[in-house]
Amino acid sequence: MISPRQRLYINIDHIATVRQARRGAEPVPVDAVAICERAGADGITAHLREDRRHIQDADVEVIARTVTTVLNLEMACIPEMLTLAERIRPYAVTLVPEKRQEVTTEGGLALASNTAELTRAIARLRAAGVRTSLFIDPDPDSITRASDIGAHAVELHTGPYAHAPGEGAALAALRDGARHAASLGLAVHAGHGLTTANVGPVAAIPEIEELNIGHHVIARAIFVGLETAVRELRRAMDAARHRP
Ligand code: PXP
Repeated sequence: MISPRQRLYINIDHIATVRQARRGAEPVPVDAVAICERAGADGITAHLREDRRHIQDADVEVIARTVTTVLNLEMACIPEMLTLAERIRPYAVTLVPEKRQEVTTEGGLALASNTAELTRAIARLRAAGVRTSLFIDPDPDSITRASDIGAHAVELHTGPYAHAPGEGAALAALRDGARHAASLGLAVHAGHGLTTANVGPVAAIPEIEELNIGHHVIARAIFVGLETAVRELRRAMDAARHRP
C-alpha cells in the first residue's frame, strides 16, 4: 500500500544536546513535543544512547507520557534498553547500531552478524506490543534479512545520499531498497541527514511512508523557531510527494 501522505517524525535529541552542553535545566526536550505536533509532526523520535550524551532516562519517561501522536524510541539492541522499552512500551522502537566514539549513528545495523540477538529482541518487543524498525543501509541482503527476522519496518539510511545529494547512485539505492522492502511487506521509513533542501527526492519515493528528521530541524529552529522549522519541512515533503 502506497500512502499519499508521508509521516514526519521529528527527532528531538538535539534539544537535549543543548541542555547537556551545560548539564543544566534548559531547554527541556518534552516542551518540544506539543510544538512539533501542532506544526504537523506525526510522531516524536528520541534516541536514548548508552552514553546518555543527549536524551536522559527521565526525558524518555516524560515524553512517552506527553505525546499525543506517538513515540518512536531509538535505541541500541542491548538488555538495558530492551527492558526499558518493555516497561515504557513506546509505539515503535527503532534499533540502531551504536558506537561510543561516533558523533552520530554512522551506518546501518549489521544484520548478518547479529541475527540471533536481533531476532530475540524483535520477538520480545512484539510480545510487549511494540513495533520494531531496523535502521539499515538500503542493500537488498539487509532488507531481506530484516523481513526474515520479523521486523515490522526498516528505516533506510539516507546519510550517503544526504552527504552527496546530487549523487545518483545513493538515491537509486534508496529507490530500489524501498521497492524491495515494500514488496516483502515491510513498512519503509528513511532518515539521517535530511533537510528541507535535500528531502524532496526522498519524500517522492512512493514506498517510503515515514521520515525521521532531527538535526536540521533543531538547527533551523534556532533562527526561525521550532514550529516554523517543522512546517517548512512538512511543506517541502508535501510538495515533493504531490509533484505531478
Ligand atoms: N534515524 C536514525 C536511525 C538516526 O539515528 C538519526 C540520528 O539520530 C536520525 C534518523 C535523524 O538524523 P538527523 O539528526 O541527521 O536528521
